This record gives sequence, structure tokens and C-alpha cells, in this order.
Amino acid sequence: MATKDEFVIEIEDLVKRFGGQTVLDGINLKIRPGETMVIMGGSGCGKSTLLRHMVGSLHPDEGRVKLFGNVLADMTEAELDETRKQFGILFQSGALFQSLSVGDNVSLILEEHTDLDAAIIDFMVKIKLELVDLREAAHKFPAQISGGMKKRAGLARALALDPKILFYDEPSAGLDPVTSASIDRLIIDLTRKLGVASVVVTHEMDSAFEIADRMAMLHKGRVLMLDDREAFEKLRDWPQDRLGELDEDHMLIRQFLRGDAEGPLTEETDGESSYAADLLGIDNSKLTGGRSIQTTRRVPIPGKSNGFFRRLISGGSRKSRKQGQNKP
Ligand SMILES: Nc1ncnc2c1ncn2[C@@H]1O[C@H](COP(=O)(O)OP(=O)(O)O)[C@@H](O)[C@H]1O
Ligand SMILES: [Mg+2]
Repeated sequence: MATKDEFVIEIEDLVKRFGGQTVLDGINLKIRPGETMVIMGGSGCGKSTLLRHMVGSLHPDEGRVKLFGNVLADMTEAELDETRKQFGILFQSGALFQSLSVGDNVSLILEEHTDLDAAIIDFMVKIKLELVDLREAAHKFPAQISGGMKKRAGLARALALDPKILFYDEPSAGLDPVTSASIDRLIIDLTRKLGVASVVVTHEMDSAFEIADRMAMLHKGRVLMLDDREAFEKLRDWPQDRLGELDEDHMLIRQFLRGDAEGPLTEETDGESSYAADLLGIDNSKLTGGRSIQTTRRVPIPGKSNGFFRRLISGGSRKSRKQGQNKP
């Protein structure tokens, strides 16, 4: 299969419906090699569904998803298996085999997918565990380790086959703030050390701003904003006394972005609910269910405020005008 270096993932005009509900409504998103893309949005807005399309466990009703230049839906099972070896997935729970030690959880993947001999596999397991700072825990079982360590173990397993892309769905879900920050650092570290692209779904804004190179804000099945982290930072820090210059959608994105970043309010909580949730009426105390954020428009309208916003988000940024779905 041909490999294209420009983008590791290309999502084009992706539409997905479940029954009568259009969950993804024309998504365009491209991921570059080695970058960390954070996908944000309220509960139930389609983040996990989008991720499932990227790993080939769901296929689009319309549009296409390409990995390394090849359309996922056109691949044979064998090709899909080959492609899957090039990416790692970190599930919410870590999804470890409970009956296997941490080390064996990692070696299992290597035994299944490579012809390496046992000594080499042992060596590689040590390397992967060292990368996630878990070498001491190699012989422990999942039930014997903390939530944070389970995530690390899941990550070591996702790294087993030296993937080019890592997918994370809510990597800090259920972790205390300190552990969650350490997982963030690990994601940044691995992205840099190994040069892997990371696609991270999260509603934790502290994490999002910590790790992102670029960010995509999903709402009602569409990409409401897609840009560099700096552009999102500008919007988050947009002064209160000039809110009138923002259109409704960007005001809402600003609220969403500011939510979890506020100290005292978040510190009062158990780390799973958020200021943003209160502010916007989203139930993100759980990762599923709850209401989505509501606006009356889906995309910025053309005209003054959009022109203003274009300047706001394009200040110094190379590619802010390439975001198809920000355009009218
Ligand atoms: N397999 C499925 N069948 C039917 N509806 C689904 C399925 N998967 C997700 N949905 C619906 O699609 C919407 C988006 O879900 P999801 O992608 O899990 O949201 P998020 O990850 O952003 O919280 C929700 O309304 C959810 O109920
Ligand atoms: Mg989800």
C-alpha cells in the first residue's frame, strides 16, 4: 500500500447517521505526522464516533477516511489488520487483560503480531514499560495498580508495535488532577520522543491546552473551529469587555474553553465535573449521556463578525484560512 507522508489521516466530508440521528454531519479533518490534535466538544457531540471512524471500527455513510493515503473502507480485512499495526489506541479504562501481568499485557501483542523470539520480546516489553515509567510494575496485575498506572500500562501496550499514530479517548477520565497532569506530560513526551501523531479526544480543557498542537471543536456533528492551539488561546483569553465583537458561536466556544481552566471552581469538584459543564449545562460528570451545548447557529455567519473573527484567529497563523468548515 502506498504511504503518503503529508497527512497520516484525512477525513473528507464524513457523514454518519444512527437511525434518524445525524451524528457526524460533514467532517473534514487532516492529521499531520507527529502532531498532537485535540478533539473537543460537549458530551454526546460525536467525538468518540469520529475516533471510531479513524480506527476503522465504523465506516462512514458518506465521505471517506484515509489512513496513510489509503481509504479505510476500501481495504480488505488483511490490509486493515496491517494498517491497524501502525496505530495504537488507548481506551478509557486502559482495557487491560485482568488475568495477565502488566508485562504480559504488552508482550501478548508482540507475540500475536510479530515473529520475534522470546528474548527480544522481553527486551521490547522492558523498553515500552520504561517509556511509560512502569518498569517496576511489570509483574503486577491490573487489579493491584492504580488508575493512573493502568492508563500507563494501556499506553505501553498501545506502543508495543511502534505505531505512527496514537489515539486516546478521554485519557484523563476518572483520574485525579495530579495523575491526569502526569498523563498529559507523558503524551507530550511520547509524541516528541517517538515522533508519533496523537489524536486526543477530551473535554478537559487544562489537558487540551497543555498537549495540543492543533485543536478541533466539534458541535452538532460539525467542526465549529479548527486551528492552532494559539488561536484557541486567543479566543479563550478574549477580553470580557469586548465580547460583543464575537458572534454567538465563538462566544460559546470561548466559554467552553475557559471552563475547566479556572482554578477555584474546578478544585472544589471531584475532578470529573467542571465549570464549563455548569456554565453550559452539559452533563460531563459522566462521559456519555447528558445534554450537548446548544446554539442557534451551527457555523459562523459571513459578514462583519466573521471577518473580525478571521483576523482574530489568523493573527500570525499560517493555516487558519484552510479550515473548510469555518467558512460560510
Ligand atoms: N452505535 C451507536 N448506535 C446508535 N447511536 C450511537 C452509537 N454510537 C453513538 N451514538 C450516538 O451518537 C451520539 C454521539 O456519541 P459519541 O460519539 O459517543 O459522543 P461523545 O464521545 O462526543 O460524547 C450520541 O447521541 C450517541 O448516543
Ligand atoms: Mg466519548
